[in-house]
Amino acid sequence: MKRIFEVQPWNVSTHEFKPEDKRLQESMTSLGNGYMGMRGFFDEDYSGDSLPGIYIGGVWYPDKTRVGWWKNGYPKYFGKVINAVNFIKMNFMINGSKLDLANDEFTDFDLDLNLKNGVLVRSFVVTKGAAKVQFNFERFLSVAQKELSVQKVDIKNLSDAEVKIEVISALDSNVKNEDANYDEHFWEVRHIDEDSLVAETKANDFGTPRFTSGMQAGYVTSLEKTDENVGDTETSITFSGKLNKDEVATIEKRVIVVTSRDYDSQDELISAMNDLSAKISSQSYDELLTAHENIWAERWEQSDVKIEGDTEAQQGMRFNLFGLFTTYYGDDARLNIGPKGFTGEKYGGATYWDTEAFAVPVYLGITKPEVTRNLLMYRYKQLDGAYINAQEQGLKGALFPMVTFNGIECHNEWEITFEEIHRNGDIAFAIYNYTRYTGDKSYVLNEGSKVLTEISRFWADRVHFSKRNNQYMIHGVTGPDEYENNVDNNWNTNYLAQWTLKYTLEILKEVSADQAKALNVSDEEKAKWQDIIDKMYLPYDKDLDIFVQHDGFLDKDLEPVSAIPKDQLPINQHWSWDKILRSPYIKQGDVLQVMYDFIDEFTPEQKKHNFDFYEPMTVHESSLSAAIHSVMAADLHYEKKAVEFYERTARLDLDNYNNDTVDGLHITSMTGGWIAMVQGFAGMRVHNDTLSYKPFLPKKWDSYSFRQVFRGRVIEVSVDKQGSHFELISGDPLDILVDGKPTTLDSLQTN
Ligand code: BGC
Repeated sequence: MKRIFEVQPWNVSTHEFKPEDKRLQESMTSLGNGYMGMRGFFDEDYSGDSLPGIYIGGVWYPDKTRVGWWKNGYPKYFGKVINAVNFIKMNFMINGSKLDLANDEFTDFDLDLNLKNGVLVRSFVVTKGAAKVQFNFERFLSVAQKELSVQKVDIKNLSDAEVKIEVISALDSNVKNEDANYDEHFWEVRHIDEDSLVAETKANDFGTPRFTSGMQAGYVTSLEKTDENVGDTETSITFSGKLNKDEVATIEKRVIVVTSRDYDSQDELISAMNDLSAKISSQSYDELLTAHENIWAERWEQSDVKIEGDTEAQQGMRFNLFGLFTTYYGDDARLNIGPKGFTGEKYGGATYWDTEAFAVPVYLGITKPEVTRNLLMYRYKQLDGAYINAQEQGLKGALFPMVTFNGIECHNEWEITFEEIHRNGDIAFAIYNYTRYTGDKSYVLNEGSKVLTEISRFWADRVHFSKRNNQYMIHGVTGPDEYENNVDNNWNTNYLAQWTLKYTLEILKEVSADQAKALNVSDEEKAKWQDIIDKMYLPYDKDLDIFVQHDGFLDKDLEPVSAIPKDQLPINQHWSWDKILRSPYIKQGDVLQVMYDFIDEFTPEQKKHNFDFYEPMTVHESSLSAAIHSVMAADLHYEKKAVEFYERTARLDLDNYNNDTVDGLHITSMTGGWIAMVQGFAGMRVHNDTLSYKPFLPKKWDSYSFRQVFRGRVIEVSVDKQGSHFELISGDPLDILVDGKPTTLDSLQTN
C-alpha cells in the first residue's frame, strides 16, 4: 500500500512533492467533465518522469495488431484513446531562466484536488538566483460549459529585487501516446494561428473515422503580450512583465475545445469555436467558476455518501464517486465509461462490459434514469457494429464487442474477443436491471427488444446440440475469470445465454404489434429458442451442491489461495501465463458474478455453497472482483468478509492497492465502494417493484448514510449504532421493506 495523499473527507491533498510519485500524483489528481479529461500533469514542462495526458471522449486512433501467426478473424487493431493537442501548456521564465520543478529549488509545495467542486490547485515558492517567486495554479474543466478548460496562475515576487516574468502559453499538437502507436504522431495540423490550432488525425489503413479537433485560447492577464510564434505543430504567445517586491501578476487561460464529433465541416467547427470563445470571454473567472461549482453542488446534493468514524473510507467513497462523475454523467449518448476514464492510456479509453456489469447498478442509484438509459442507447446505436462482429465469427445476430468505440470489436487478443462472449449476456442483463430498478419499460419494449432479439439470435446460433447428451452446449469460451481460456460450458455463459433467451421471449409477448412485426421473430425461431432454454446444459455437482465453473474445473488441483506463498502474489506478476491457466485460481467472480446479478433467484444454501467453494480460490486480481464478493458476503451475513472486500475496493487507487495506479485510475472499479455499501451493507434490492433494505453497520464505523434516486424520489438511508433511518428527501410517498417489514416512506422513518 502506498499513500501519498492526506486522509481528508473532501480533498486529495499533499504538501510533499516526490518525483518518484509524480505519475501517481498525476493519476489521482485527474480532472474531467464527461466530454474531456486530463491527468494532473503540470502546466509547465517538467523534465523529470511524468505521463502527460489530455483525452477527449470518443476521439481515438487504431493501433495495429502485431502477431507472428495471423489467423482468420483476428481483430486487426486495438482502438486507443489518444493524447489530444496539449492545450494547457504554459511555460514560465524567471529573469530569463525556465521554470522546471525537476531542477529548480522550491519550497512550500501544496497540491490539492477539491472533490466538492473539481478544482485542482497547486502552489510553491521557487528560488532562482536572487529571485524568489510564489506560484499559485488553479484549473478546472467546466461542467457548465463542456468545451471549456480554465487555468489561472498568480505569480508573486517575494524577493527584494525586481523580477522579470515571461509566460509562454502554447497549443501543442506534437504529442504521443506511451502505451500505443509507439512513436507515432497522430495529429496533422489543418489550421494554425496565434491563438488557435485545428488538427486532424492521420489517415489509417483500417478505414476507421478520422477526427478533427480545434482549440482556441483566450487570455485575461495583467501582463503584456510581447511575442507570438506560429510554428508548424505548435503556436504560442508570450506575455511579459516586471514585478516589484510583493507585486502579483495574474494570467488566466481559457481554452475552448471542439471536435468533428459535433460539427460536420472544418468551417462549422471553427465558427463554433469562435462563438463559444466569444461567449465565455464576457464572463469573469468567478462567474465561470460559480456556474461550474453549482452543478457539482447539485450532484453531491443528490448522491453524496457520508461515513462517520472512518475518514479513510469517507475519502475513498467520495473520490470514487468523483471519478465516475468526471468520466460520465449521461450527457452524450455516444460516449461511455472507459476502464481508465480520462486518467490514463491503458485499456484504450474504450467501452468494456464493465459498464453494464458494474457501472449501470451505480448510475441507477445515483442519477436520474436518463443517464443509465443513455448507456443502454449506446449499445442500441452500435447494433450495426455488433452484427459485423457476429458475422466475423460466422454467426447470426449481434455480438457486442468486448472492447469498442463504435460497436466494432477493437481489442486484439483472440481469447478475449472470440471467446469472452458472456458480455453479450451482461448487456442483455443491464436492460433487465434498468427496467427492474426504474419500472420504465419504454426502453425494453422498443430499442431494448431489438437488442435482446439480436443477442438471442447470436446465442441460438452459438450453442450446439450434443446428441450424446441431448443437451445444448457452448464450447470454447472464456468466462469473466480470464485466468482460464477456451473452456467448455462455462456456467456463467451458459446461464446468461439461457436467461437471455427466456427474457427475450417474455418481452416479445409484451411488445406492440408494430414492434413485433419489425423484430420479425418467426414461430419457428421462438420454438427453437424454447428448445434451447429447456435443454441448456448447466454444469452442476451434486455432491458439492455447486454450479461448476466449466466442464474441467473440478479435475484441477483444487487448492485455496492461502496455499500460494505470499511472495508469489499477485500471480499475474509472478507466474507464467500457462501456470496461471493450469491453476485453479480465479481472477474474479465467475459463477459468483451471475449469482450476484440474480441474487434473489438463488436459495441461501446455493449462495453459501458456491461462495464457500469459489471464494477461497479467488485471487481478485481484477479490481472489479471485490465489490461483487462484498455483496455476496453481506448477503450471507459474513459481515467481516464483506467489510474486508469493501476496504479493498473503496481505496484501491488512493492507496495504490494493485501497484498500478501510475497508469491511471480504475474508473469502472470505482463503482465498487458504492455497490458494496448500498447493496452489501444496506442490503438494498429491488424485487417485484419493491425497494427493500436489510442494513448492518460495519463495526469500525459510527454511521453511514447515502442518498439514492428511485422512481422519481430521492431517499436518504442512514445507518448508525441505534438502527436505520429512511428519509424521503423528495418525491411521492413510497412503500418499502426494511428487514422484511413493510414501511411507508413519507418523511423520516426509524427502524
Ligand atoms: C478484467 C475484465 C475487465 C477489464 C477492464 C480486466 O482485468 O478481467 O473483466 O473488463 O479488466 O476493466
